[in-house]
Amino acid sequence: MKHHLRITMAGIAFAAWVVTPAAHADDALAKAKGCTACHANDKKVIGPAYKEVAKKYKGDAKAEALLASKIIKGGQGVWGPIPMPPNKVTEDEAKKLAKYVLAM
Ligand code: HEC
Repeated sequence: MKHHLRITMAGIAFAAWVVTPAAHADDALAKAKGCTACHANDKKVIGPAYKEVAKKYKGDAKAEALLASKIIKGGQGVWGPIPMPPNKVTEDEAKKLAKYVLAM
């Protein structure tokens, strides 16, 4: 019983840490979702640098929705021949990640 309780508390603490504060939390989300395997903030890895993505879509009001949908479904042909596979994220997480990338 005690052991079980401890696990639950750790879970709650982790959830709180992931949700706040925004920038740091989304860093953790990008890591947890495996984005960092192919992306870095300021250099090309397999996918484009997030800073380059932010530059490309600067001032585009539709970019957040577009990128959120690409993060969920994957995408291809915008940055080169290598496609991005679909990612296991919820719509909410995808929106957060799109916002995070655009704020680079
Ligand atoms: C297996 C490698 C891989 C993973 C994992 C990956 N990406 Fe990508 N990503 C790519 C590639 C390659 C592209 C370029 C696709 C293209 O040219 O259209 C890309 C493009 C993007 C773009 C720009 C899309 C556009 O149309 O301009 C965003 C934003 C992005 N990724 C975010 C993410 C996020 C957030 C995650 C984690 C949930 C993630 N990626 C996981 C490889 C990856």
